[in-house]
Amino acid sequence: MDEEIATRGPETTRGRKSLWTRPKRRWLLGIPLGGFLMFTAGVAFWITFDTVVAVTNSEAFCTQACHSMREFIVPEWKASSHYSNRTGVRVTCSDCHVPKAFGPKMFAKIVAVKDLYHEIIGTIRTRQDFDILRATFAIRVWDKMRATDSRECRGCHDVASMDNAKQTTFQHAAVLVLERTCIDCHKGLTHELPDLGT
Ligand code: HEC
Ligand code: HEC
Ligand code: HEC
Repeated sequence: MDEEIATRGPETTRGRKSLWTRPKRRWLLGIPLGGFLMFTAGVAFWITFDTVVAVTNSEAFCTQACHSMREFIVPEWKASSHYSNRTGVRVTCSDCHVPKAFGPKMFAKIVAVKDLYHEIIGTIRTRQDFDILRATFAIRVWDKMRATDSRECRGCHDVASMDNAKQTTFQHAAVLVLERTCIDCHKGLTHELPDLGT
């Protein structure tokens, strides 16, 4: 009997000892588990984020979400050669107005939140409201395009790829030496020019 206790004693202690170390190892399990949860949350966030960016870049969103765009901008775009043309390449709003590179694109999206605000408070209700503000908007777009050397236009049109022999009115090889960018000469291509009061 005594012998039994004597032998059980140290064993129980050892048993406790191993129980004592187990939670430490269980805690270690949290590392892969936490990593997995963070990874899943990251993927979920990325999918949502990517969807929001894609939706707000879509033709449907730009042409239907806002009253001012739908009423005043879209009919002009539809009449332009960037909407429907011989070759069937449609150039949509975001092609010209949203940068492709990640950083500038995110910046444009954040700045565009103010457009949502103005849509909600109804800054532009009538054609007259739009006509009054149009010059300001157009100048803003021109300034931006000058600052980027018409980056969005060049995303599709490359002067180096132009066949100058086929350009009868103006040979664009000149653009390489002239200190002018696309938008300096090609204003009002998709939209009617604003009344600048000149
Ligand atoms: C997504 C590609 C894309 C972008 C971005 C783009 N274009 Fe175009 N552009 C085209 C295509 C395609 C045509 C040819 C249409 C056709 O066949 O008549 C065209 C046609 C033109 C023409 C000839 C228009 C005509 O009526 O004959 C000019 C000028 C032009 N683009 C300038 C610009 C400028 C300036 C920008 C930037 C503000 C720009 N493009 C942005 C694809 C693009
Ligand atoms: C110095 C003024 C000037 C600059 C700068 C300029 N263009 Fe032009 N471009 C013209 C003129 C003039 C025409 C012929 C008339 C027209 O179609 O408007 C023309 C025509 C075009 C056409 C139609 C060509 C055709 O044969 O149908 C395209 C496309 C075009 N430009 C794109 C661009 C792009 C992209 C840039 C910037 C890289 C640019 N242009 C810069 C003056 C300019
Ligand atoms: C081919 C390039 C191109 C496309 C496509 C395009 N825009 Fe523009 N957008 C411009 C340029 C350039 C300006 C500056 C004014 C001008 O030169 O017409 C402008 C100006 C504007 C303005 C300021 C008001 C004005 O008329 O000047 C708004 C708003 C606008 N665009 C919205 C849109 C929307 C919405 C779409 C699609 C339905 C669209 N744009 C398609 C190039 C484009």
